[in-house]
Amino acid sequence: MDNSAQIDYWNGPAGEKWVRDADRLDRMLAPFADAVIAPVKFVPGQKVLDVGCGAGALSLGIEAAAVNVAITGVDVSEPLIALARSRAQAVSARSEFVVADAAAWQPKEPVDAVVSRFGVMFFEDPAGAFLNLRMATKPGGQLSFACWRPLPENDWAMMPLQCALPFLKEAPQMPEPGAPGPFSFGDAGYVTDILTRSGWREVTIAPWDGEISLPGASPAETAAFMIEIGPLTRLIKEQALEEAAILEAVEAGLKERAGTDGRTRLKAAAWIIGARA
Ligand SMILES: C[S@@+](CC[C@H](N)C(=O)[O-])C[C@H]1O[C@@H](n2cnc3c(N)ncnc32)[C@H](O)[C@@H]1O
Repeated sequence: MDNSAQIDYWNGPAGEKWVRDADRLDRMLAPFADAVIAPVKFVPGQKVLDVGCGAGALSLGIEAAAVNVAITGVDVSEPLIALARSRAQAVSARSEFVVADAAAWQPKEPVDAVVSRFGVMFFEDPAGAFLNLRMATKPGGQLSFACWRPLPENDWAMMPLQCALPFLKEAPQMPEPGAPGPFSFGDAGYVTDILTRSGWREVTIAPWDGEISLPGASPAETAAFMIEIGPLTRLIKEQALEEAAILEAVEAGLKERAGTDGRTRLKAAAWIIGARA
């Protein structure tokens, strides 16, 4: 299983952007940390694995909220793991963070629970990766993760793309079905099949629907954020588009949607998926 394209991606400019914007992203994604944690029954002394942990917000949130569990966060991104470690050190947290490919890495001892906030949609061979994660989990251990539903259901990502449409040099290419990426687990049947094939059982899939508050205290600030992260960023790079015109169009679009406080809240749609090893 070769995850090298994603490993390069998350160790390149994308990883650096996530580091720079970590606090703002964590505020935007906070509701999903709560949604991932809520179904898990943590018991003192248990071991928990956070897959694609990024800068560690979910791990550190669990450590702060849960009774004495030992958490290991695994991520391929060196800069994000460095930030997770420094955040842990700053609050004297015990959570450990490892740079590794979760599709192949195994903990020294099996864990009681596997959790993830948007960190499991980037595997080249998802069934192989989820088999590896199941092998890392004690029989009966819990799985709980958040993944995005399809892009068109997620206004927060779709709206900036729509604003950019007039500036595209060609129609955006839809990713191949199953290709790694933020929206690759949008189809509930596809995810159920991956989990079932990799031996997870009692699969549950619950929709999460709501609005998320985009970073930025004004449409201008939010637009600057939105063209730096997500599908639009890739499109600008792939088609060598003129950033200034798109920035202006996104800002104009956000002005129509922003609240009186200048902040924009847009619809988001995710799955909260559970299973047992
Ligand atoms: C969308 S970010 C989410 C980060 C974090 N969970 C959060 O909620 O802030 C996806 C993360 O998955 C990581 N990732 C991608 N492929 C991975 C793999 N094969 N093994 C471990 N981590 C991976 C990336 O480096 C990135 O940090």
